[in-house]
Amino acid sequence: MQINDSIKDISVKLKRIYRDLHQIPELAFEEHRTAEYIKRTLEEENFSNIHSEIGGTGVTATIGKGEPIVAIRADMDALPIEEETNLPYSSKHIGMMHACGHDAHMTAVLGAGMVLKHEINELPGAIKFIFQPAEETPPGGAQEMIKANILNKELKTILALHTEPHLPSGTIGVKDGAIMAAADMFTIKLIGSGGHGAMPHQTRDVIVAGSYLVQAIQTVISRMVNPLQPAVVTVGSFNAGTKANIIAGKAELKGTVRTLDPKLRESMPKLIDQVINGVCNSYGVQYTFNYDWGYPPVINDSTAVKTLREAAKKTIGIENVINVDSPSMGGEDFSYYLERIPGVYFYLGVGKRNQTDIKPWHHPCYQIDEEALLVGAEVLAQTTMDVLRRENSGS
Ligand code: NI
Repeated sequence: MQINDSIKDISVKLKRIYRDLHQIPELAFEEHRTAEYIKRTLEEENFSNIHSEIGGTGVTATIGKGEPIVAIRADMDALPIEEETNLPYSSKHIGMMHACGHDAHMTAVLGAGMVLKHEINELPGAIKFIFQPAEETPPGGAQEMIKANILNKELKTILALHTEPHLPSGTIGVKDGAIMAAADMFTIKLIGSGGHGAMPHQTRDVIVAGSYLVQAIQTVISRMVNPLQPAVVTVGSFNAGTKANIIAGKAELKGTVRTLDPKLRESMPKLIDQVINGVCNSYGVQYTFNYDWGYPPVINDSTAVKTLREAAKKTIGIENVINVDSPSMGGEDFSYYLERIPGVYFYLGVGKRNQTDIKPWHHPCYQIDEEALLVGAEVLAQTTMDVLRRENSGS
């Protein structure tokens, strides 16, 4: 049976699953109803080795014979957003919404599994399905799943997709190498000495020092990082002071750093610290600097990308395989899997054709074209088949 025919057979079922999941959005590590729904569906569809409560609320399952060689991962969490789409299947959970399309990810991965089960007798190896909690909330669910030993050593390739409303439904977006940035955070505390606003010479003013620091920190990007390497430093929060005529003695600055290159990423704390140190010295202010490592960059493997492209050409046609030119500076914890297993993370076009007013990720009116669910399932299934055949032929 052709994958394409199998997809048509499960089309109605997949759309129902999507709508069911869309109505029960849950926040990071609280995906209990979602996990229960996934588990029940896997049981109904006769998947094997179904395990729940992995790394919190995660669920895994397999199909096929032997140890899994390919893994497909979906994230499960939703966002604290009140849905405003007015869809008949809108969120039933007040203040929560699948506004990043993780409901579509779960549906596409389930769909891929259902299709691959039709091919089970021809499959030369097993496939693992990973439903992971808490992608939206660093440190995230991926690390918890990995700590729970879900990645067996035989795994050769891991796949994941993310909905992309700016690509039309029927297409996918593919990029070799880095596709998403590392997302690190930092906190700087400035410790000066407060006093009267009219007598600055008796104080160590952290607002003046901090204001200069916000500017100076940008020179890390403009003067210390290779201009051909993408990097962002943003100070998103600066808290100090209480009253117009009081010089503040304490300040706190919080920010984020985004990089694509792992080596550059490693060098960032030292470069930033150098600037903080210089500024604080010149103003006679003390400081502490905490750097929190977030998700690593998402780096796609060339071989996996090639297999995906070929599989997509077969299923949706070359004209629907869109090259993603530049990586996003957003972050994603699929990177933790990719640090251990080569694989590919790609975009699933979910934009309704001819729609001009497209709402971005995390918007209360975020919507997808449900036909894209079938495309996602089909491309994941074909890519998985092709990896299994490749591994089996030893090429
Ligand atoms: Ni997302």
